[in-house]
Amino acid sequence: MTSRLQNKYALITGGFAGIGLETAKQFCLEGACVAITGRSEAGLERAQSYLGENLGKNAVTIQSDAADIQQQQALADKIKTQFPRLDVIYINAGDVTHKPFNEWEEADFDRVMNTNLKGPFFLIRALLPLLSDSASVILCGSVSAQIGLPQSSVYAASKAGLISLARTLSGELKHLGIRVNTLSPGPTLTEAFDKFGLPENEQEALINQVKELVPLKRLGTPLELAKAAVFLASDESSYMLGSELLIDGGVGNL
Ligand SMILES: NC(=O)c1ccc[n+]([C@@H]2O[C@H](COP(=O)([O-])OP(=O)(O)OC[C@H]3O[C@@H](n4cnc5c(N)ncnc54)[C@H](OP(=O)(O)O)[C@@H]3O)[C@@H](O)[C@H]2O)c1
Repeated sequence: MTSRLQNKYALITGGFAGIGLETAKQFCLEGACVAITGRSEAGLERAQSYLGENLGKNAVTIQSDAADIQQQQALADKIKTQFPRLDVIYINAGDVTHKPFNEWEEADFDRVMNTNLKGPFFLIRALLPLLSDSASVILCGSVSAQIGLPQSSVYAASKAGLISLARTLSGELKHLGIRVNTLSPGPTLTEAFDKFGLPENEQEALINQVKELVPLKRLGTPLELAKAAVFLASDESSYMLGSELLIDGGVGNL
């Protein structure tokens, strides 16, 4: 076990499953104290059981909706009562809805943008007074922002917004010692695939189709993404600013 995140306090949004939950585990193993958020009761229980002995010792769970702008200040206030400061924010909660261009209703558009872009914008602002003078803010992008995948119009635009935000906030906050970077996954095997509401055989067919799009011909694992997040959260990435790290099996570049 290494301790690249010793004495660091971290918040991971959307940490009740998938990439966020595995990242919380890896952060704990590297010595950090971690707060994770999510919405559902089932997710909360699953996360608590996955974190095991870390829970209560160096991990806390908080129910909070990333899409609800009012809840972002409340979350920041709660973090203030738990941690003396924040060294890492990982904006990971994301709404992965995909639909044909003609089928997007305004409410769907708003929900995706609120979860993926507007909520994070106001959360980071609410947390600013708590950020340390060597803080790392990691925004979860997606390789979808780099390619023209059908049905991803709103989702990809929201992630492109985050990639832009990593640059502009880095420019605005660098004098405070705060670095903002994007971590962009390619297709990764998580519970996100359950959210398309497909029967089991169709979901499997979708996963096989997606694998074919990936130059490495497989999906990524939450652990591969979590290891990259550890790097970005740690001082090992101290020369990265306003940048994007693609962990995508080659989708964005080949
Ligand atoms: N998996 C992929 O192939 C892939 C590819 C590119 C990018 N990404 C990005 O990676 C991030 C994580 O994805 P994942 O695949 O790990 O997803 P996941 O397995 O579905 O997990 C998402 C987590 O976020 C929570 N969450 C969802 N909406 C939330 C909200 N409004 N407020 C608070 N928590 C919320 C969920 O818990 P609750 O349901 O309890 O809220 C869950 O814990 C997302 O930003 C996604 O866009 C994923």
